[in-house]
Amino acid sequence: MATFKLKDHIYLINTLHWERRLFDELIPLPEGTTYNAYVIIGKDKTALIDSADTLKACEFLKDLGALGIDKIDYVIANHAEQDHSGAIPKVLNKFEKAKVITNPKCAELLKTHLRIPDNKFQIIQENDLLDLGGKTLRFVMTPWVHWPETQVTFLEEDHIAFTCDFFGSHLATTEFITDGTPDVYNSAKRYYAEIMAPFRNMISKNIEKVENFEPLMICPSHGPIYRKPEFIINAYKDWISDKVDNLVLLLYVSMHHSIEHAIRFLEQKLIDNGVMVKTVSLSTADTGEVAMALIDAATIIVATPTVHASAHPLAIYYTFLANLLRPKTKFLGIINSYGWGGKAIEDLKNLFPNFKGELFEPISFKGMPDEEAMGKLERLASTIAQKHKEVGLL
Ligand code: FEO
Repeated sequence: MATFKLKDHIYLINTLHWERRLFDELIPLPEGTTYNAYVIIGKDKTALIDSADTLKACEFLKDLGALGIDKIDYVIANHAEQDHSGAIPKVLNKFEKAKVITNPKCAELLKTHLRIPDNKFQIIQENDLLDLGGKTLRFVMTPWVHWPETQVTFLEEDHIAFTCDFFGSHLATTEFITDGTPDVYNSAKRYYAEIMAPFRNMISKNIEKVENFEPLMICPSHGPIYRKPEFIINAYKDWISDKVDNLVLLLYVSMHHSIEHAIRFLEQKLIDNGVMVKTVSLSTADTGEVAMALIDAATIIVATPTVHASAHPLAIYYTFLANLLRPKTKFLGIINSYGWGGKAIEDLKNLFPNFKGELFEPISFKGMPDEEAMGKLERLASTIAQKHKEVGLL
């Protein structure tokens, strides 16, 4: 837990969660995370923007106390997910007169998830203003970054955008403010890839809303604050664009080396053809690394042995996950090794309905790849290079 003075009358409460290693029981957090809340003290009123995870609610209350805050008039809820709203019920218990300021959808979700009573809410709409006395908050709806109710709060006089998850990163650090480092870029990209990527079409309009405000600082609710907003805005513009790289993401599982043999051969042939490769063994994969590669890869290849007449469960899991993340990948290939039959290829294809690009002719072989299979793999490598050329990547 930490408190930090951002400017006169504006404070950060950074609830550091160094030891957290998994989010949503799904997303690895190699560098922990933070839940950032902000206190803005006007001449007349004091506002708290977001709070902390339910797990850290007591710590959060202590931090508020450490700042010497003896009254809170408004709790601004930019997002209903419990990692930011979880401490709100405790805040409302302590500051009985405080009202939760949020949009109708967020209020509905807060009532559903946290059972906050109806009379605690003051509902705002797009572009509404809240005057704290010399500090004015403007509320702008930014739906689907990454829930339907997400909003951004702008502090007009200081040109600060409080964006909650939008532009955030799972990175526990006491370097609370950044100008943009490779580490922060990487953490923000990982965050985008795991959480925001499926909504890239909606994000574009929301970036515009933030840019129009001409922020001097972007304060997300995870990870460091951006002193140079263009660092993270430009990164987001790149990630949401249709652009992909001359990169093949090879996702494979191998039980008795047949698939591994094929993958190593294909990897070399791709390199020989001038194509970049990221190869991931799914039995030791980091979900975040795979998600990040899905943003960049022009081609995905899934290679799996046959298990109980279908694909290996790890190949099924990662294909299903790729489908959920809706990558902008243009080409897809499936490689399968079998002993006596099965429908691994059909099952994998059916798991990826969101893939709208071109599916290469799947390659299957019995046991260890034979000469015919190696020939097909070699031709697949040249086809991929040719396709990457056609779309201007090579
Ligand atoms: Fe950081 Fe969507 O919660």
